[in-house]
Amino acid sequence: MCGIFGCFLKNENAAPVIHSSLKRLEYRGYDSVGIATISEGTLFIKKGQGKIDIVHKDLNLDDLPGNFGIGHTRWATHGAPLQINSHPHSDCTDKITVVHNGIIENFNDLKIELQNLGHTFVSKTDTEVIPHLIEEIIKNKPALSLANAVQEATKRLEGSYAIAVISSYEPDKIVCARNESPLVLGISNNGIYCASDIPAFLPLTNKVVMINDGELVILTTDGYQIKKLQDGSTLERAPERVEWSAEMAVKHGYPHFMIKEIHEQSEVLRNTMRLQDRYLDLMSTFLDRATEIFLVACGTSYHACLAASYMFSKLAFLPTYPVYASEFIEQYGKAVNIDSTILAVSQSGETADTIAAVATAQQRAATILSLTNTIGSTLTRISRVYIGTQAGPEIGVAATKTFTSQLSVLAQLALRLAKKRGKVSQSEIDVLDAQLEKLPDLVDTIVKTQEEKVKQIVHKYANSKVIFFLGRGISTATAFEARLKLMEIAYIPSVAFPAGESKHGPISLIEQGTPVVFVCQKDDTHKTVIGNIMEMKARGAKILAIIEEDDNEIKPLVDDYLEVPKNIPSVLSPIPYVVPLQLLAYYMALEFNYDPDMPRNLAKSVTVK
Ligand code: AGP
Repeated sequence: MCGIFGCFLKNENAAPVIHSSLKRLEYRGYDSVGIATISEGTLFIKKGQGKIDIVHKDLNLDDLPGNFGIGHTRWATHGAPLQINSHPHSDCTDKITVVHNGIIENFNDLKIELQNLGHTFVSKTDTEVIPHLIEEIIKNKPALSLANAVQEATKRLEGSYAIAVISSYEPDKIVCARNESPLVLGISNNGIYCASDIPAFLPLTNKVVMINDGELVILTTDGYQIKKLQDGSTLERAPERVEWSAEMAVKHGYPHFMIKEIHEQSEVLRNTMRLQDRYLDLMSTFLDRATEIFLVACGTSYHACLAASYMFSKLAFLPTYPVYASEFIEQYGKAVNIDSTILAVSQSGETADTIAAVATAQQRAATILSLTNTIGSTLTRISRVYIGTQAGPEIGVAATKTFTSQLSVLAQLALRLAKKRGKVSQSEIDVLDAQLEKLPDLVDTIVKTQEEKVKQIVHKYANSKVIFFLGRGISTATAFEARLKLMEIAYIPSVAFPAGESKHGPISLIEQGTPVVFVCQKDDTHKTVIGNIMEMKARGAKILAIIEEDDNEIKPLVDDYLEVPKNIPSVLSPIPYVVPLQLLAYYMALEFNYDPDMPRNLAKSVTVK
């Protein structure tokens, strides 16, 4: 997730306005920044690695001439956060420059095609293919307008994009286009703005024009024109007023980042489905050849590893060992060796325990692989191969969208391994592939259908001395994650166990009315879970079950239930089944008027051991 911005001003320099607007988009990404303006037909660009304030201190981002331009604040997905990879990106002639938010899935093919046509690339980004594509189109059809060239270029792009383009060929307009990545216009007496999100220009105007997928916009000093990308037909759309405060706008109207990020999961899961095959293939090759594999992480990321161990085993018949990073050195520090492979998972890529565990393994010649949400983090620099989980910056301290994005990438790796190792039939793999593609919509449905129900029942569980979370099979990981979410933001003492383990001791805690949350995916464990529910009910427990919709075996047995859509394969179940439990933790925190975004004693990235 990055932030793009552009503006056409009536009678003032654009650069300072672009700079301040990018600051208001910094929550969308902050590893590098750039601005481009045009003045008297000449293109000017300043860009650098680092947060906006740092780059501004170095380069003075306000000092660019011209009353219109574009800007970008980056969250790296392709290409490390370096000056050379920061936006805007330009063509060979430096006459066309582009800022982009999204993921161009077919950029590698386009890059090779354009290189074969003589284009020279300087960055590792997917974005850079866009200005070169426009350049090639204009070279072949010089009479084409910039807007038509952009329109034609978008027909070659696969994936998500919100782009803003300026060119010294036509130094009097900004051309934008969107597909799946957000784009809005702001209209004021002093000028016109385009941005990834409303907060960018909210202090300047609350007159907003929403741009939809498949639309192109031309901004000039006289205003804006919206066209359909498909056929160039013009669309009329008047501005509407938004009544958000600036603070609300950064949260897109949500009261907290955590609930915004829970709602963003469907978009994030779509982005994780756009990972480059070559990265997934490379990492799955390393895993396939590994002698022994440790899955090393902390907290929520550890729960993703725990779920992954079931995925790798059930799909690829590959044994992997989830290990708490903080225990890895004590537990395996002497045993890990050149034949060991570490798959470290860390959304921040900076967790001290995880980095220390990886460093120990590396000293003993183990192969280091990693998943992280933060390209350019320490973990990416010490990994032989890493994959970015595409979740965009996660502001809430409690991990939500980064967890489900980790699970999606791990499931994609497990599926590739299943294919490589020929352990499951092609038809089974096809079904799972199709189901994985459906997950973003399923998660959207769950949020839409279950959120109100969570709000209605949460008070029934608020004053509990302790809350149990139980699951069987892969849902053990979901239960563990649900427990962590509730503990860390609602501060309710919670315990989580494999459901089969509760009779070996924990069940002694059950009193009349003790809430027990069961995660009950429909798989081979379903019958046994029913037995565990009965076991708890017999001791007076109050049961909340997360069930497949219309699971009429469990419904009559429990006090409350939350439903997820039918026929979700068990190995993918943690992604949808965790969503109602994330909502439960969030609304439980609100029951006590806690701030879910800033829970006590916790930090977003634990960089101390
Ligand atoms: C998650 O809700 C917690 N905030 C915490 O457990 C977190 O998952 C853990 O610190 C690991 O962080 P990482 O993914 O950045 O390594």
